[in-house]
Amino acid sequence: MAIISSVQKAVELLADSQLVGLPTETVYGLGGNALDPMAVASIFEAKQRPSFDPLIVHVHAVEAATQLAEVNGIAERLFRVFSPGPLTLVLPKKDIVPDIVTSGHPTVAVRIPGHPVMLEVLERLNMPVAAPSANLFGFTSPTTAGHVETQLGEKIAAVLDGGPCSVGVESTIVDVSGEEPVVLRLGGIAVEALEQELGRKLKVRTSSSNPKAPGMLLAHYNPGTKVVLAQNKEAAIEHLKNDSQSVALTFGEDAWCSHPKLNLSPKGNLNEAAANLFSYLRELGQSGYTKIVALTLPNSGLGRAINDRLLRASAKS
Ligand code: TXA
Ligand code: MG
Repeated sequence: MAIISSVQKAVELLADSQLVGLPTETVYGLGGNALDPMAVASIFEAKQRPSFDPLIVHVHAVEAATQLAEVNGIAERLFRVFSPGPLTLVLPKKDIVPDIVTSGHPTVAVRIPGHPVMLEVLERLNMPVAAPSANLFGFTSPTTAGHVETQLGEKIAAVLDGGPCSVGVESTIVDVSGEEPVVLRLGGIAVEALEQELGRKLKVRTSSSNPKAPGMLLAHYNPGTKVVLAQNKEAAIEHLKNDSQSVALTFGEDAWCSHPKLNLSPKGNLNEAAANLFSYLRELGQSGYTKIVALTLPNSGLGRAINDRLLRASAKS
C-alpha cells in the first residue's frame, strides 16, 4: 500500500472498485464505490466490521444526495446550512443504494464532507463513496494518513494524504427520516447550532441500545491502553496518585498535574481539543503506560462530542 497525493490516482482506484483511505475534515474514511456491493463487502471485511453496522455514503452536493435518498424539507435546509461539513443525515433510501450499505435498513446515512481534497475526489469520480472511519472496528479513529497506514495498510490499495483532519471528531448524525429529527451521534456540528437553526430542542439518542443507531456501541475508540475518566481535577489527582504507570490527558490550565501528560488544548479551546483527541489517545495508548486518566471537558458544544468519545474509550469491551 502507498500513501499518495494524486487525486486522479485515488479516483481511478475507486472507479475500479478498490479501497482507498480518504481524507475528510472529521477523520479519515475507508472509501469504496457505494453502488458496488462487492466493493462495499470488502470495506466490511477490511475493517472487520459487523455486517449489522451500516455505512455513511459521501457525495459532493445535495443534488447527488437526491439520487440516493428522499431529501425532505428539513434535510434540504440542514444540508444547505451545514454542508459541506461534519453533518450526516439519515434519510429514506432509494432502490439504487445496495442493501449491504445500509445493513438492510430502509434508510441511508448521507454526508457532504467539507475537506477540499475529498470533495474533488467525489466530484471527479461522480459516484457516491461509502466510507466508515478508516480504523479497525472498535479502535481509535484515524486523523492522519499515517494512522490509516498503521491499521489498514496491508488491506487497502492506497491512502490519499490530505493532511491532518481539522475537526477531529466524526460527523454529527441526525435522523430526519421520521416525524421529528433525532440526533443519533454527537459530533463535529454542535447540537446547539442545529437547535438554533431549527428553532427547537432536539432529542439526542446516542445510547448503545438504540436499534436506530446500530454502530453506537458503548465500547469503541480503544487506544490500546485502559482509559479512566475523571470528572474533575480532584478525581484525576486521586486516580494518578502513587501510580507511576499512569499518564494524564488534560485540558486547559493543568499546573495541578505533575504526572506525565498530554494537554488537548492548554488554552481551553474545544475545537483544538477535538482536533487533537484521537492522535493524543493513540500516542498515549502506545507510550507504554498502563493507564490513561482522562479529564472530562465542559459538556457543551464540541465538548459533548469529545466526552462521548472519552466515555466510549473508557468502556470495557
Ligand atoms: O465523520 C464521519 O462521519 C466519518 C467520515 C469518514 O465521514 N465516518 C464515520 O463512519 O464516522 P463510521 O462508519 O465510523 O460511523 C457511521 C455511523 C455508525 O454509528 C452507523 O451505525 C451509523 O453511522 N449509521 C450509518 N447508517 C445509518 C442508518 N441508516 N441509520 C442509523 N445509523 C446509521
Ligand atoms: Mg467509526
